[in-house]
Amino acid sequence: MPGITGPSDYSQEPTRHPCLQINAKASSSLEPFNAEPPRSALVSSYVTPVELFYKRNHGPIPVVDDIERYCVDISGLIEAAKKVYMRDVRMLPKYNVTATLQCAGNRRTAMSKTRQVRGVGWDVSAIGNAVWGGAKLADVLELVGIPKLTSSTQSGGKHVEFVSIDKCKEENGGPYKASIPLSQATNPEADVLLAYEMNGEPLNRDHGYPLRVIVPGVIGARSVKWLDSINIISEECQGFFMQKDYKMFPPSVDWGNIDWNTRKPQMDFPVQSVICSLEDVQSIKPGKVTISGYAVAGGGRGIERVDVSIDGGKTWMEATRIQKTGVPYVADHISSDKWAWVLFEVTVDVTHSTEIVAKAVDSAANVQPEKVQDIWNLRGILNTSWHRVHVRVGHSNM
Ligand code: MTE
Repeated sequence: MPGITGPSDYSQEPTRHPCLQINAKASSSLEPFNAEPPRSALVSSYVTPVELFYKRNHGPIPVVDDIERYCVDISGLIEAAKKVYMRDVRMLPKYNVTATLQCAGNRRTAMSKTRQVRGVGWDVSAIGNAVWGGAKLADVLELVGIPKLTSSTQSGGKHVEFVSIDKCKEENGGPYKASIPLSQATNPEADVLLAYEMNGEPLNRDHGYPLRVIVPGVIGARSVKWLDSINIISEECQGFFMQKDYKMFPPSVDWGNIDWNTRKPQMDFPVQSVICSLEDVQSIKPGKVTISGYAVAGGGRGIERVDVSIDGGKTWMEATRIQKTGVPYVADHISSDKWAWVLFEVTVDVTHSTEIVAKAVDSAANVQPEKVQDIWNLRGILNTSWHRVHVRVGHSNM
């Protein structure tokens, strides 16, 4: 594609913030850059700063050499294919959507402690909340003659495939790709964006410059970065990351008996909450402790409640939830950011060593599962079990 290239080595990577914790697959710098911020950074602000936002890659970061020539090829089961340039995208109405992006592998490290899983290990910070600026995909698709709220084109297109330019090992050196249903892509209420801004700045290279897809409420894997082409297709994308990865299997399936075709690609993420003000094991002084963290639900559902326990889950108290200062958070209310996390906080009195637990409830009354064992799956995705941290209470030298 003119104007953008996907390098085959890692010699042109951008510089990154030194606070990011790198979760390399191997102890080699030749692996894709995968990193997350310290937990405490997530609760420092409702909108996560770009430099501290987690970075999840499957190949080297693409390089734009001529932004004027860069364009997205839209073709497939439509009447006339079209090249859409940045100026075309910028001419469409611009939307700012506050949305939380969460990798399906968030909290994988904790899941792998119960039984081994395959995949990059992540603590609890493969997640961030940003204000994404760009055009609605529904408006972009109108440029190729697909009206709003279409579930099938006349020639039988039912899915929208996003193809990137990066070179991924899993695709045998081919690009990263994924798809979403056409009905979601053409629904303006689904807020699917072709984003060119993150937190009011042009996207940076790590996060998809010059153009990326943002699919709010859905696992991060479908928000394709460095968009190269869009294909309108009849079946969902057959790429590795749709068909051989990011699917949720039951605990009974292992590498010996897996049949990838038995499960659908994961789309929405389930309700999640995590304590970010404490590490897994932390020493504290006895007395008042403020516990804070994030809670988020997929599919645009709000967070109805966050419960915190300081006795390992025997008794619970409700935390306060906030998005914007001065605006009371009400799940699913017009004033709330429906695709974004809430930050929660509660002050408790801790007198002795104990286990502190958080669990969230979404607006459809879905609750996080208690035990990680019950949702264990061989790829270690969607660990949304109750989040537990251990505090050791000491009385001196703390
Ligand atoms: N898009 C491309 N082209 N290549 C990738 O490796 N990774 C996906 C998604 N889009 C990926 C991609 C995954 S798994 C996640 S979780 C998000 O991008 C991460 O986005 P971020 O790095 O901006 O946080």
